[in-house]
Amino acid sequence: MVDLSVRVGSVDFANPVILASGACGFGRELSEYVDMSTIGGICSKGLTLLPREGNPGCRVAETASGMLNSVGLQNPGLEAFLQNELPFMTGLGTRIIVNVAGHSTNDYQKMVERLGAPGTPVDVLELNLSCPNVTEGCMTIGATADGVYNLVNAVRSLTDKPLWVKLTPNVTSISETAHAAQDAGGDAVVLINTLLGLAIDVKTRRPVLQNNTGGLSGPAIKPVALRMVQECYRLISIPIIGVGGIMNAADVIEFMLAGASAVEIGTASLLHPAACAKIIKDLTAYAEDNCLEALSSLTGELKLW
Ligand code: FUM
Repeated sequence: MVDLSVRVGSVDFANPVILASGACGFGRELSEYVDMSTIGGICSKGLTLLPREGNPGCRVAETASGMLNSVGLQNPGLEAFLQNELPFMTGLGTRIIVNVAGHSTNDYQKMVERLGAPGTPVDVLELNLSCPNVTEGCMTIGATADGVYNLVNAVRSLTDKPLWVKLTPNVTSISETAHAAQDAGGDAVVLINTLLGLAIDVKTRRPVLQNNTGGLSGPAIKPVALRMVQECYRLISIPIIGVGGIMNAADVIEFMLAGASAVEIGTASLLHPAACAKIIKDLTAYAEDNCLEALSSLTGELKLW
């Protein structure tokens, strides 16, 4: 029997495959296609204190090897989540990660206090310091090391639950922002959120997305994400969760070799709802074929030239 389990800080996962925020809502739709108890974990859509309708207009656009989105954090808000969505997620039989977004430090503090209170059925809080599609909070905070440090520091004492910090690649130095997350008490970093991009409609001569810009995801960004994971793996000591263009089991292996303890799958689930289940099956086959007793032994095994 191959051991697919991984440990991220104090939390054990049955396998390293987690559904990424924004690609699975709160799990309702995907649960019709996948036995969610076989997935390592599920991360909720970015949640804010109050409900948000999100950005207007055309909000997604296909690109070469990827997609742009500018959803604008559409979500039902904290209270509706606690009443309607969290009980559903709890019944899925997998680890629950809640992606926490906000306009201000005060928003993040209120959310962390509530979601991270002792006894809530939440395994991990993922601090969204990286959504590029809103004008306040998120990437505007996460774009600098000081912003990351101050935000994580402001919420750290409010919960005993693990805090993962999801960082933006739209910075000069990802290792500086990752360091800031670690120094302020983050338990892990999630690398990376989307790359800010633009698509233009040549007929209308306008941006395809009504928000003008959006976040690029999918295979196009995998090399960028891999580079950032391996750079940070060498410079920080907290675990890394890799995300960015993972489409198959070989991609997962690459991220683990680069230093990821676990991975999140986003765009692949939008293409194939059961992508995660296939990836887990193929990871088992890879481990068997390569006589690996524990998949976790791959983490950080990349040998640089
Ligand atoms: O626009 C959005 O809702 C994207 C969120 C994110 O990238 O975290």
